[in-house]
Amino acid sequence: MSISLLGTDFTELGHTLERIRLSGADSIHLDIMDGRFVPNISFGWSIAADIVRASALPCCAHLMIEHPEDAFNAFVGAGVTELLFHVEATRFPFRALHLLKRSSIRRGVAVNPGTQVESVVPLLDSVDTVLLMSVEPGFGGQSFFPGTVAKVRALRSAADRSGTPTRIAVDGGIDVSNAAALRDAGTDEFVVGTAFFRAGDPAAFVRLLKGA
Ligand code: DX5
Ligand code: ZN
Repeated sequence: MSISLLGTDFTELGHTLERIRLSGADSIHLDIMDGRFVPNISFGWSIAADIVRASALPCCAHLMIEHPEDAFNAFVGAGVTELLFHVEATRFPFRALHLLKRSSIRRGVAVNPGTQVESVVPLLDSVDTVLLMSVEPGFGGQSFFPGTVAKVRALRSAADRSGTPTRIAVDGGIDVSNAAALRDAGTDEFVVGTAFFRAGDPAAFVRLLKGA
């Protein structure tokens, strides 16, 4: 389970990272936005490097930026352990994945709700993770697209057919009401923001979602 920092108070970051560590979550999800691929701007690789240094948990960079290849080296240099870029943001996803292969980090692609899951099946041999967006990227606190459950199921069966050990992660609007259906469909990892920070008892929330 990975916790998105998008909706948090960045003046409290140290405290927030400790809270996430104590909750039993597995990693930190860094939402990187350039104001072009998505209508929002978050932070870049230098702040990502600060967060990586301050975090006891591994950090994954979710790149919602155009020409993501141009930023790979900087984010690898920032020390993230996983890097995900949007298939819609590059014309040459194989070439981009090949660039990432040089570094030892986990690599993958993110897929918008409106993008057919079939479009990433040819990439399954070249990725560790596929991140299915269950909201239109750009903001936290949005409503979950129920159609995502069927997308997970379709991707899981495509991965099983191709014999690739693809990790399926889902990101956006996840909470206790949709976690079990996502898990049943074949989801390996949840990315959660708002629901985690709204939880009265974060550790109980994490246990609940992990056990979903
Ligand atoms: C949205 C981001 C998500 C988001 C998740 O573009 O990629 O990671 O912050 O937050 P919630 O759980 O609030 O939807
Ligand atoms: Zn994200």
